[in-house]
Amino acid sequence: MDPVRNPFAPGAGSQPPELAGRDDLRSTISIALQRTRLGRPTKSILMVGLRGVGKTVLLDRMLEDAEAKGIHTMRVEAPESRSLPAILAPQIRQALLRLSRNEQAKDYAQRALRGLAGFAKALKVKYQDIEVGLDFEPEPGLADNGDLEHDLQALLEVAGEAARKAQTALVMFVDELQYVEEDELAALITALHRAAQRRLPVMLVGAGLPQLRGRMGRAKSYAERLFDFPEIGPLDPPAARSAIAKPVEAEGARVNEDALERIILETHGYPYFLQEWGKHAWDTASQSPITLHDVEQASASAIAALDESFFRVRFDRLTPSEKRYLRAMAELGPGPHRSGDIAEQLKQKVTALGPTRNQLISKGMIWSPNHGDTAFTVPLFDEFMRRIIPGDDWKH
Ligand SMILES: Nc1ncnc2c1ncn2[C@@H]1O[C@H](COP(=O)(O)OP(=O)(O)OP(=O)(O)O)[C@@H](O)[C@H]1O
Ligand SMILES: [Mg+2]
Repeated sequence: MDPVRNPFAPGAGSQPPELAGRDDLRSTISIALQRTRLGRPTKSILMVGLRGVGKTVLLDRMLEDAEAKGIHTMRVEAPESRSLPAILAPQIRQALLRLSRNEQAKDYAQRALRGLAGFAKALKVKYQDIEVGLDFEPEPGLADNGDLEHDLQALLEVAGEAARKAQTALVMFVDELQYVEEDELAALITALHRAAQRRLPVMLVGAGLPQLRGRMGRAKSYAERLFDFPEIGPLDPPAARSAIAKPVEAEGARVNEDALERIILETHGYPYFLQEWGKHAWDTASQSPITLHDVEQASASAIAALDESFFRVRFDRLTPSEKRYLRAMAELGPGPHRSGDIAEQLKQKVTALGPTRNQLISKGMIWSPNHGDTAFTVPLFDEFMRRIIPGDDWKH
């Protein structure tokens, strides 16, 4: 069918034509944001899930929902190499400048901007990557101790007061939160905890890989009580069905029932894969309806496209020993696997493989659902590894 009209959108962070199966969570977040704005007790929310399940697009959609309700938002993505204060500071500044245009909040927002100036100046020693425009002179003693835990807390407090005056809330949407260093996470948790105790309208909506939950707990033992950790997973069959059928129908075409079932079977309901299969099934079909035969043909090109993009970007970041480790895991199937079993595949000691395993965890390729267990963070990565490194030469 006409590729120009193909509605599907495979790609990291690409908004899907139909955001299927996430309405409940969207409304949960929307309620939480409105409660926080009223000063009612609310937990910050951290969405956790594997690669490609739709965390980023969900976060963006929630941000739009929030903005539509007049909530002040900040959007950041934690990169692997920059510090949390460096990525937050410019966003806090933008939010405060917007708040300073509100008559009721103006003085408070300006005070918070002084706080930000002190914050940036004092922390620049430790976090040289902080770069932020300064609109006011610092107020001595306000958020300028040079200690992130203290200063972030003080800064979010004054910012939260400004938001309260403007009868809005200040909500940070942070993606890839698992990359934030543990001491920086600890500072963020403390600051949010303090704001919550004071019923200030400040909240975090975060997203990250499943290891995030454990990292938060290690950073601050009370973190697990302070946050909700909804799991973002593959779509259930009815949602997966509408992810494919609705966009097709919106273009005036149809998909046969058995074709839909096959797509769900092949993708296991994983959102990224659904977009890829939808796209290729559409392009393969010569006319509506899309048939089972079209899907069967499209599968090969969908897999090839995933191998070249979704899987490849991950694979290319690996060292040879990391590749071998993952290949050994793949030999054992989808997982999770015991460290001992992986080591046995490689005929090495578990302790000798420790550093490789740790690097893979910090790159976000694997995680540990339970002590001694190792699982892929990328769905169907085991199948990919067996495709890209076939045979058993890797054993030697
Ligand atoms: N609810 C959904 N229904 C249909 N398609 C979706 C849904 N959520 C996400 N997608 C599609 O899945 C793909 C991946 O989405 P996204 O980049 O948000 O995933 P992610 O969890 O952030 O992945 P990563 O961990 O790699 O950053 C995109 O092509 C997006 O359009
Ligand atoms: Mg993402």
